[in-house]
Amino acid sequence: MIASRISIENEYLGSVFAYSYLEKPVTAEAQKSARAAVEALGLDGEAFDNAMARMKTLTEGEKKYLFELVDLVSQEIVTFHTEISKREERINALNNQLGSRYSYNSMIGKSKPMQELYSLLDKIKSSESTVLVQGENGTGKELIARAIHYNSPRKDSQFVTVNCSAFNENLLDSELFGHVKGSFTGAIKDKKGLFETADKGTLFLDEIGDMSPTMQVKLLRVIQEGTLTPVGGTEQRKVDVRVVAATNKDLKEMIETGTFREDLYYRINVINVVVPPLRDRKEDIPVLVDHFLARGCKEKSLPMKALAKRALERIFDYPWPGNIRELENEIERLIVLSGDEVRIAADLLSQRIREHGDNAKVQGVRVAGKLKDALEELEKTMIREGLRRTGWNKSRLAKELGISRAGLIMKVEKYGLDKRKITRAIDGSGSGGGGSGEAAA
Ligand SMILES: Nc1ncnc2c1ncn2[C@@H]1O[C@H](COP(=O)(O)OP(=O)(O)O)[C@@H](O)[C@H]1O
Ligand SMILES: [Mg+2]
Repeated sequence: MIASRISIENEYLGSVFAYSYLEKPVTAEAQKSARAAVEALGLDGEAFDNAMARMKTLTEGEKKYLFELVDLVSQEIVTFHTEISKREERINALNNQLGSRYSYNSMIGKSKPMQELYSLLDKIKSSESTVLVQGENGTGKELIARAIHYNSPRKDSQFVTVNCSAFNENLLDSELFGHVKGSFTGAIKDKKGLFETADKGTLFLDEIGDMSPTMQVKLLRVIQEGTLTPVGGTEQRKVDVRVVAATNKDLKEMIETGTFREDLYYRINVINVVVPPLRDRKEDIPVLVDHFLARGCKEKSLPMKALAKRALERIFDYPWPGNIRELENEIERLIVLSGDEVRIAADLLSQRIREHGDNAKVQGVRVAGKLKDALEELEKTMIREGLRRTGWNKSRLAKELGISRAGLIMKVEKYGLDKRKITRAIDGSGSGGGGSGEAAA
């Protein structure tokens, strides 16, 4: 028998063996006594003799050749192994670059829109530009603003938040720019404004769309000139503040109707971050649910809970008009309501979530217009709902609908209902059974 050890970087991986040959001819006596030993074990002596007859005796040259061959095999294994490990490393590195990050600071999400958001945040890390974050309520705009600050060179100075919609105009003025003693009733001493508090740091102007036109002018001046005058004051003060603004309003539309200044819009919208609503990134729901469950259970020193499959399905189907904030609150509520139960059953869900999609009827079906269009609309809705309900099980759905599987596939193509498209557009602006309307019921 010839053996060759395989090891990589001193780590033993295994051996290659070559056997079933004879190094020198076996004498008749030796074979006879070996046969006797085999028969003593109850095995077939004749079969042993036949096998011995077929066994090749190697010449010195052949033995040398076989030695080399075994060595070669073990070297090849080492080469392949090293090559595969290298490729694995490369694949891992590429995967990391491509994303599949599950979180960014305290933001959770692994969907494509979130990956894109993370790489945008990476790119603006060292920039000083103003940022406008746009997105519906509860999508995480403030979290993004914080991430921008805490990853920036300003991170050691303050991050200051102002909710522009929480103050009336005069109060916001004094809140942002400060005031001097006696400038208005109640101004009993000088007060520093939030712009000054945020000096060298970041000022987060939340709900900037709710700022009055007068305040918009003042804000523009501070951003442009870096100086401000406190309410009732005369001397100008220098500030070095980076502004991050957020809104859930369509500022472009506000510009058209004359309620938002175009010059301010362009001044703050140097970098634009759009946060997609949760219904457009439903892949993130399971990771968010796990995250909120883990956090909530830990806070309350409870063993880790999990949602029943049905409950998770309901959560997945619901369009979440209040986005992550709404989901966060729902999970918190479920943790409390489930008490000692580790498994959270679907019947604990809030009514609106539990009952969403329960409706097997299509509402708002058109009763006027072309019959063909109305039928197509109904067909599309039924297929879309059916696909979701059956988890894209086309065979099952075809059976339910009483059509062939091939027929169903054709219709799925016709209406653009393939899985990827539908999870993106789910309950979006699509026709017919819109999500948020039902959700409010
Ligand atoms: N990607 C996310 N991962 C984890 N929690 C999030 C995420 N986005 C938002 N949240 C949470 O949801 C809530 C709402 O976020 P917030 O930033 O206040 O939203 P917005 O300012 O857009 O209304 C907060 O409690 C926040 O921590
Ligand atoms: Mg907010």
